[in-house]
Amino acid sequence: MNIDLENTLELAVAWAKEVGEVQLSYFRNGHLDIETKSTVHDVVTKVDKLSESILIERINECFPDHSVLGEESGEHDVHSDYLWVVDPLDGTNNYSQGLPVFCVSIGLQYQGKTLLGVVYAPYLDELYTAIRGKGAFLNHVSIHVSDKTELDRSVLATGFPYDKGIHPVNNIDNLSRILPHLRGIRRMGSAAYDLCGVAAGFLDGYWELGLKLWDVCAGVLIVQEAGGYVEPFRDDRGIAILSGNPKIVEKMKEYIN
Ligand code: IPD
Ligand code: CA
Ligand code: CA
Repeated sequence: MNIDLENTLELAVAWAKEVGEVQLSYFRNGHLDIETKSTVHDVVTKVDKLSESILIERINECFPDHSVLGEESGEHDVHSDYLWVVDPLDGTNNYSQGLPVFCVSIGLQYQGKTLLGVVYAPYLDELYTAIRGKGAFLNHVSIHVSDKTELDRSVLATGFPYDKGIHPVNNIDNLSRILPHLRGIRRMGSAAYDLCGVAAGFLDGYWELGLKLWDVCAGVLIVQEAGGYVEPFRDDRGIAILSGNPKIVEKMKEYIN
């Protein structure tokens, strides 16, 4: 490894904030050119595409020899050990509805291991950051996962895959099993934000299946650096993870599969 992670994080934060400004400038203004992708539930706007093109341009300017994986444009592989994993706008359904939970997610991996993560929610002005081994931060203040140990005192988040209408493994069974045992459940609408909510202790846990690397790359590191666990729970449905403090993750496993 030959890059300075603190400086690289600063760059990624600057890119996330630049893209966040662009997202705010179009938010709730009605000109988003909404199209559907994998299913009618899966939408993309011109702001997702514009955000990704800005991020790729910035990465290429600063690190022309690094590979990039972006949700909207796929792999830009230059056979590097470094891979930038970007979800330019996580929470597009929220964004296109005018709901404020959406974010930019940027992770950097080296040989498949995540070195740093940035999640920026521009409307909320919440910046979550982590460097491997250096802790996790919300707006530069150290954060930690919640210490609750009982499900009946816990508020968890989850989400549902875009093919929920056609795929039998759609997380509805998990929800109906666990919900009676919880203080509350939230469907925030952004996997990256859910993970950051766990990292900050605003959520006591989160699980979801059918996720992609760009949804979770940065957020997983942020949870781990905040003292939380992230565990896979099945291997046939994309990325399927449980997260929270170690005790809550153990208890969630009784209901989630
Ligand atoms: C989606 C969000 C959502 C999750 C979906 C993701 P997108 O990402 O993170 O919360 O339930 O599985 O695909 O499409 O808004 O970037
Ligand atoms: Ca996403
Ligand atoms: Ca996205």
